[in-house]
Amino acid sequence: MKHETIYILDFGAQYAQLIARRVREHHCYCEIVPHDTPVERLRNGRGVILTGGPASVYAADAPTCDPAVFDMGIPVLGICYGMQLMSHLLGGRVEKAERREYGHAVLQIANDGDLFAGVPATTPVWMSHGDRVQSPGEGFEVLATTTNTPYAAVVHRKRKAYGIQFHPEVTHTAQGRAILGNFLLRVCEMSGDWQMGSFVEETVARVREQVGDAGVVLGLSGGVDSMVVAKLLERAIGDRVHPIFVDNGLLRLNEPEQVRKTFAEHFSIPLHFVDASARFLDRLAGVSDPEQKRRIIGHTFIEVFRDRAEGFDDVRFLAQGTLYPDVIESVAAHGGPSSTIKTHHNVGGLPDELGFELVEPLRELFKDEVRTIGRAVGLPERIVTRQPFPGPGLAVRILGDITPDRLDILRQADHVIQDEIRSAGLYTELWQSFGVLLPIQTVGVMGDGRTYEDVCAVRAVHSVDAMTAEAAKLPHDLLQRISNRVINEVRGINRVVYDISSKPPATIEWE
Ligand code: XMP
Repeated sequence: MKHETIYILDFGAQYAQLIARRVREHHCYCEIVPHDTPVERLRNGRGVILTGGPASVYAADAPTCDPAVFDMGIPVLGICYGMQLMSHLLGGRVEKAERREYGHAVLQIANDGDLFAGVPATTPVWMSHGDRVQSPGEGFEVLATTTNTPYAAVVHRKRKAYGIQFHPEVTHTAQGRAILGNFLLRVCEMSGDWQMGSFVEETVARVREQVGDAGVVLGLSGGVDSMVVAKLLERAIGDRVHPIFVDNGLLRLNEPEQVRKTFAEHFSIPLHFVDASARFLDRLAGVSDPEQKRRIIGHTFIEVFRDRAEGFDDVRFLAQGTLYPDVIESVAAHGGPSSTIKTHHNVGGLPDELGFELVEPLRELFKDEVRTIGRAVGLPERIVTRQPFPGPGLAVRILGDITPDRLDILRQADHVIQDEIRSAGLYTELWQSFGVLLPIQTVGVMGDGRTYEDVCAVRAVHSVDAMTAEAAKLPHDLLQRISNRVINEVRGINRVVYDISSKPPATIEWE
């Protein structure tokens, strides 16, 4: 079952998983491994990619790799920091660039052989570096340049070592896909026959191996991620997986009933339901700090799972539908240094003493990849296309203190927003659409009287992976309908605003 494999050595890149995903898009299997992985483990690979990273190669604690990586006889592609490290280790010189190069640059291709086959002679690329290669080392030849970067792409043919200073994995590099494809299919001569479907068999096998004869509790939210995990685990270990749906009091209108019904229609194992709303809401009372909310919620989920797990035989594992974007924004995925944006409740929000070993089969995937798997395992479109809903639920959409009254107000407003978005046929087009209850009151006039009530912000975004997002340009009449209905139907809201910020610099959720 072992595929042709590309090993991606991670030097702390924000984009390591994006590189992995681009490799998978070419139907090539890849694994992300730490930068200091011993070469013995890499020898059976078809190629190696060295990622970018925030360090300088000449810094004392700069992450490095075994120089023997370049003697294995298999192709290596160094990207940004990866290229600089390659030069540094192979006798070249890397220095601080006079001018940092960040953003668009135009690549001039000098040699349109293998790596640049089929790529136009000048093409836009995305740069993001402070250091640059001053001389790549003996035996290297230049493949491409930009105005500021004389060594924008180089090759050492004897070693099959390629270096590119720009980032082929981001969409701003117009030909990035083609360039990576050339590396994989031409240089590494991979067959490109790996399918997302093989992910199912492989994961099932891996889960069986990981859990042995033990039992597994699964935190099931009803979203596509945890439903896919449930399917994979049901296939792997049958009724030794115990899916638990926790009503934490922070769910949307009618959500518990809907999840129970859908689960019963598509699974033969039972779903265990726990109403822990009082426990969650008690602990959240008076808490307004977003990170504290996440931590409390993460810890309380684990307590509930632990308590419930005592009712089953020999449970040693907790399965979760954690995806890669949850990981990258909470902690560095493979030990590399990358900064924390939010401690997603199911990653950084977990207690140190978990009491379970984690089973997270989707940890390296992006949402659209999970949706593809969801279809492959037979989940219905209704689940597959469901918009993401954060684990901490409405808690991170009620700014400030969470009270039963405020939950009730937001539930109703959110219901109206969903209803209108669906009626407009926009639900599946949008990455997410929802309401946020703000901690401010404003003055209004209703009938003949003054009101002093809450503001609801509407958020609707387009995104492919939640790592970046753009506010949707919703039709004005739709926004108007949402506003009228929310203000008329929800007691306690007298003003609706629309959030037009992108991520970055904002984030999708307000907390
Ligand atoms: P942000 O707000 O960081 O959100 O742009 C990115 C995506 O992640 C979801 N999100 C979370 N999901 N636990 C989750 O399971 C969390 O703590 C959490 N915080 C944000 C958010 O809805 C969006 O899809």
